[in-house]
Amino acid sequence: MQAKAVILRELARPAPYAESKPLSVEDVTLLPPAPTDLVVKVIGGGLCHSDLSIINGSRGTPLPMALGHEGAGEVVEVGSAIMDIKVGDPLVFQFSVSCGRCRNCQSGRPQICEEAPKARAKGELISGGSRIRGDGGEVIRHHAGLSCFSNYVVVNRGSVVKIDDSISMDDAAIFGCAVMTGVGAMLNTANIRPGQSVAVFGLGGVGLCGLLGARAAGAGTIIACDVDDRKLAKAKGMGATHTFNAADPELKTKVMDLTGGGVDVAVELAGVVKAMEAAYSVAVRGGRVVTAGLPPTGAKFAFEQGDLVSNEKSILGSYMGSCVPVRDIPRFLAMYRAGALPVDGLIDRKIGYDEINEGFDRLASGDALRQILVPHG
Ligand SMILES: NC(=O)c1ccc[n+]([C@@H]2O[C@H](COP(=O)([O-])OP(=O)(O)OC[C@H]3O[C@@H](n4cnc5c(N)ncnc54)[C@H](O)[C@@H]3O)[C@@H](O)[C@H]2O)c1
Ligand SMILES: [Zn+2]
Ligand SMILES: [Zn+2]
Repeated sequence: MQAKAVILRELARPAPYAESKPLSVEDVTLLPPAPTDLVVKVIGGGLCHSDLSIINGSRGTPLPMALGHEGAGEVVEVGSAIMDIKVGDPLVFQFSVSCGRCRNCQSGRPQICEEAPKARAKGELISGGSRIRGDGGEVIRHHAGLSCFSNYVVVNRGSVVKIDDSISMDDAAIFGCAVMTGVGAMLNTANIRPGQSVAVFGLGGVGLCGLLGARAAGAGTIIACDVDDRKLAKAKGMGATHTFNAADPELKTKVMDLTGGGVDVAVELAGVVKAMEAAYSVAVRGGRVVTAGLPPTGAKFAFEQGDLVSNEKSILGSYMGSCVPVRDIPRFLAMYRAGALPVDGLIDRKIGYDEINEGFDRLASGDALRQILVPHG
């Protein structure tokens, strides 16, 4: 069938993207679904910093690629081997499909499936190959097995989670990345206990979801840090009990004073090494440092090994919020319905294809938090 996709053909074109236009909206052909595939009509696709890191070249990828890894939609065609999904079902995309057989899948950690990165690195579905073709049969790669900035996509059954219709589908989009990553980092990776103190570094779409997750977990003192004062203002209305500019040279002293020696849990959600170093520095003796930010490929952060040892700190990486998507997307949606995770407050703009490049300028400058592309708007 014919579809429209948002395609990146060249890395690191200079900003502003409204002028250099790294993303083009192109007519493509979708191959028919394999038995384990679904065809999905995309209702909303969220613009995430992980897309920006591909566009600006800080995290490379094979090209040409149809972007989009956060989204929601409804099923329009079902592969012959799929028994549990029917046409019309609403669903959320998830960006880490899993094999179900490797060590990590066996131990209940499908988000770090050992097989999935192989397909992802090639821009293919986990069952092999791409389903997207450009002019003359050109193979267009999938982003994270998805490419959900397209108006229609063909994806593997394992790349979607069925949901109910209690949330508008364009709002549901952010559950696929920002919510799983931010809320999951707090509830799953950090495993925050009621009353614990938490500091969050980086207050974009992922960080503010993290803040809401910390509040939902019953954290006591919740400290929000960003270099952008507009984000600090937003955080005040979303669960932060205290806010500090991360560039403040007195930041560590202020956090230490406020918490009587450091926070129980310090979480880096900026994708910036300085933010990780700051998070590490404010963790209490015995505290946990969690990072879900994705800095440029090769970036390293430094810490004093003796401090790690003598203070028994833990450093934990968090991919997709350590979520099991089929368990956690419905769980977080239930929390949303109960009013415990008002994540729709993060969506500040819905855009059409004509604004896709400009949308990434807004994300890069901090002018927008979460913008949702509405392909059929
Ligand atoms: N682990 C995962 O599975 C996963 C999933 C999604 C996104 N991510 C990553 O999470 C990060 C955040 O994504 P987003 O979409 O929320 O990005 P965003 O651009 O909306 O937000 C990033 C925020 O970090 C702030 N920041 C920059 N430098 C800082 C510093 N030194 N200290 C504190 N804050 C600082 C920025 O001002 C901004 O508000 C990105 O690196 C993204 O790639 C990871
Ligand atoms: Zn993302
Ligand atoms: Zn696996």
